[in-house]
Amino acid sequence: MPLLKLVHDSPLVFGEKFKLFTLVSACIPVFRLARRRKKILFYCHFPDLLLTKRESFLKRLYRAPIDWIEEYTTGMADCILVNSQFTAAVFKETFKSLSHIDPDVLYPSLNVTSFDSVVPEKLDDLVPKGKKFLLLSINRYERKKNLTLALEALVQLRGRLTSQDWERVHLIVAGGYDERVLENVEHYQELKKMVQQSNLGQYVTFLRSFSDKQKISLLHSCTCVLYTPSNEHFGIVPLEAMYMQCPVIAVNSGGPLESIDHSVTGFLCEPDPVHFSEAIEKFIREPSLKATMGLAGRARVKEKFSPEAFTEQLYRYVTKLLV
Ligand SMILES: *[C@@H]1O[C@H](CO)[C@@H](O)[C@H](O)[C@H]1NC(C)=O
Ligand SMILES: *[C@@H]1O[C@H](CO)[C@@H](O)[C@H](O)[C@H]1NC(C)=O
Repeated sequence: MPLLKLVHDSPLVFGEKFKLFTLVSACIPVFRLARRRKKILFYCHFPDLLLTKRESFLKRLYRAPIDWIEEYTTGMADCILVNSQFTAAVFKETFKSLSHIDPDVLYPSLNVTSFDSVVPEKLDDLVPKGKKFLLLSINRYERKKNLTLALEALVQLRGRLTSQDWERVHLIVAGGYDERVLENVEHYQELKKMVQQSNLGQYVTFLRSFSDKQKISLLHSCTCVLYTPSNEHFGIVPLEAMYMQCPVIAVNSGGPLESIDHSVTGFLCEPDPVHFSEAIEKFIREPSLKATMGLAGRARVKEKFSPEAFTEQLYRYVTKLLV
């Protein structure tokens, strides 16, 4: 529970005046309320993994704590934190009975130490020789992640480039994959078929599941990341990419609107292949763009999404509660 560990480091949190509750993957009140009248802070941290059916899931996830809030805390100065503005909007939409509560935003942080401690390895066994422009998609093999958008963008890109440039382009589709999950298995087959039908076989590598070291190596070597899902609640991949100085092309909805600085650390695009391919083309026409945006991306993560930023922000909410 890294989150709690971070919180432990903040001396104020365990003051006498309130208790901290975190919800991690299920509604687990971590500390029970000892006395009434204490301030209560909820951090509704959504694990992206569980957000398939957004509204119903949200309701299920929060039913118990929400009931609890309504039952015990009416009239108390509660603070509800969520992981993005986007989630805050969904929260308000979903829990109409709590319309008097405006959730505050506490962005998740990236544990940068785990990235700093890895020495990237060569990708020779994943990428054919002679490739210069490496595009990377990192997402589970699920239909809602819209991986087909990356493949269709590649088809568009082929039409925009000289054959010499095109020959140096390669896409790696890397994603969590569990052979016991039917959707993963089916979707992988669908994507493979699409690659064959579009004659992209030599230009795409599928990687099913990968180690952290592989992920970091991929991020280290690639030109840009293609982040294709719409309406992601937050999305940690763009942070990981930006920290590794890799620009991100993402869909212009959900969490990426908050994590990516458009035209500075990447591009936010309509979820269509034409816009995605136009954005990719910029990196090919102007190779220095990757480095410039990469530096800006790392700076952005350090400033807004580091463990220090998280602690500082949480500290601010806590002190606000205590006033
Ligand atoms: C961050 O990652 C490092 C290295 O992987 C690990 O030792 C450390 O416990 C992590 N920190 C948190 C807060 O999870
Ligand atoms: C997924 O991508 C396709 C284009 O490949 C697009 O038409 C569709 O709107 C996208 N879906 C979502 C939910 O954004």
